[in-house]
Amino acid sequence: MDTPVTIQSVLKEKRVFKPDPGFVRQANLRPTEYRRWHKEAERNFEQFWARRAKEHTDWFTPWKKVLDWRLPFAKWFVGGKTNISYNCLDRHLEGPNSWRRNKAAIIWEGEPGDQRVLTYADLHREVCKFANVLRSHGVKKGDRVAIYMPMIPELAIAMLACTRIGAIHSIVFGGFSAEALRDRILDAKTVCVVTADGGWRRGQIVQLKKAVDQAVEGDSPVKSVIVVRRTENEISMTEGRDHWWHDVMHDASTHCPPAKLDSEHPLFILYTSGTTGKPKGILHTTGGYLVHTTVTSKYIFDLKEDDTFWCTADIGWVTGHSYVVYGILANGATSVMYEGAPNWPDVDRFWQIVDKYGVTIFYTAPTAIRTFMKWGDEHVKKHSLSSLRLLGTVGEPINPEAWIWYNRVIGKGRCPIVDTWWQTETGGILITPLPGSVHTKPGSATRTFPGIFAEVVNDQGEPVPPDQGGYLVLTRPWPGMLRGIWGDNERYRQEYWSRFRGVYFTGDGARCDKNGYFWLMGRVDDVMNVAGHRLSTMEIESALVSHPVVAEAAVVGRPDDIKGTAVAAFVSLERETKASEELRHELRGHVVKEIGAVARPDDLRFAEALPKTRSGKIMRRLLRDIAAGETSVGDTTTLEDYSVLARLRESEEA
Ligand code: PRX
Repeated sequence: MDTPVTIQSVLKEKRVFKPDPGFVRQANLRPTEYRRWHKEAERNFEQFWARRAKEHTDWFTPWKKVLDWRLPFAKWFVGGKTNISYNCLDRHLEGPNSWRRNKAAIIWEGEPGDQRVLTYADLHREVCKFANVLRSHGVKKGDRVAIYMPMIPELAIAMLACTRIGAIHSIVFGGFSAEALRDRILDAKTVCVVTADGGWRRGQIVQLKKAVDQAVEGDSPVKSVIVVRRTENEISMTEGRDHWWHDVMHDASTHCPPAKLDSEHPLFILYTSGTTGKPKGILHTTGGYLVHTTVTSKYIFDLKEDDTFWCTADIGWVTGHSYVVYGILANGATSVMYEGAPNWPDVDRFWQIVDKYGVTIFYTAPTAIRTFMKWGDEHVKKHSLSSLRLLGTVGEPINPEAWIWYNRVIGKGRCPIVDTWWQTETGGILITPLPGSVHTKPGSATRTFPGIFAEVVNDQGEPVPPDQGGYLVLTRPWPGMLRGIWGDNERYRQEYWSRFRGVYFTGDGARCDKNGYFWLMGRVDDVMNVAGHRLSTMEIESALVSHPVVAEAAVVGRPDDIKGTAVAAFVSLERETKASEELRHELRGHVVKEIGAVARPDDLRFAEALPKTRSGKIMRRLLRDIAAGETSVGDTTTLEDYSVLARLRESEEA
């Protein structure tokens, strides 16, 4: 791992925002209760989570043991049986909450402006039907189902249908390429793919079915492909393998009792970038994830019956899994889903949606906030936004300037902001303000959620004093934690549990101030956060070197005002190949084909050779400095070829 020896923290933000007394009075978790929760969790964190589980989730069979912890393998709510689709649907149709039957579960808007509202009863019916469809296509408990879809209600239906019968979903973000989808299908051996003909993005059709056709071509474990008709573009359907959603749903029965699943039954796999070229399938299981997402949703977002909650993340990322679908529906709340781009047809689309549906809680990424800032306040000011009462951010550190803008221009100084830190691996939020209880400081994710234990440590794994930078680690297991990497326990151990003894290594740099507030400082490994999307430098490098003319490639992140981090690639070509503008274009396109548009390099520079140490390691620190345009390039005494450096500097993109 290429980590800096000391992490210097430069951010010194002093402003403090106290929750408004009016907000505090109505908060789901008020200050006294919040302090009590922390004390309770410090005394006995297992009991703390068990209490929360009893209060907020329903089980067919109670657990016998709260936690079985054999580092690094955890089992939560051992022996308990439950079902997430039951918790998200059935329990809102029967018993004391049966009045929710006709409450909106999902309010959906397509990019062209079409709309659909699914009540809890509607959603339950569709989920039962699709669960029966999956069964009739031979999908059994434990089988993997790939979902590659636009942001349409059928995506949530497909997920919930999988959990209903105990099939494991593997959602692949619709922006990933056919190659990326193929790799994920093969790794998880998925037997079925649920997709659509296409999805709308900035007025264009994203050709999803076409990508699926390429991904399952030749030898494939996939037996059936179910296709939602969305964009009505011409697609080919393979007889016997491909089926239209509306055909198979037509006669499906609405009766499908939820499977009684073991608490540790696998729920989903979600691939994410790690420090190697191969994405890893993060595995989450049923009971712990349900408890974690349900409880965090209710208290961090202060969810009330009449709230309209909008998380703008695509369900293809973990934020969408946990806070568009599972955590929100488990609370019987109303979740808004939007299919398209924030600037289609105009840059005020999000604010239009907020006003139209009366969104009360809005959760988005800092990159989006910085983009809105750049587009200008006038687009926001056309809309009232008076329904908003709480704002959230996730995915990357938020700079104080963007935080203040969010507070002032979107929240009108009235809405608390919850800056929530977590990861695909953590399943749910871990470090965050509680909006009625914690004073916020712009740029800090504040404190751990009760029942979560984090520290900042130095290279030796020793806690560092307040305000000193270091590595963020989690010192105790938590219910929503990943249970492993699909098919690779050794990599699981290596990536998360080997850097520091006995604790989980997050891969993030952080400092903790005197008040116990965490200030996240970005990744310290070879993972980048590009526009809130997680990408691995190695993965982009392997995509580049898979092109026949590329001899070597190195990819680093460089600071970017909007995206947080931009992708900078350095490429040396095979002999006899000439660098050109066309080739630069082609190589960028090649990365899009191999991984997807999210990974397209922002800068691509050609170099005769890459700077290496005598032992042959690429000097990434140096490349980072060059990419950032820094004049001082640090200590280069181990550079094998000084002239490489000079030539790289000259290779600035025209
Ligand atoms: O670096 C941290 C950053 O996003 C990483 C996790 O990325 P991913 O698994 O894609 O999940 C993103 C959505 C949960 C973390 O290691 N990150 C996430 N939230 C924050 C953050 N960095 C700073 N502040 C945050 N609130």
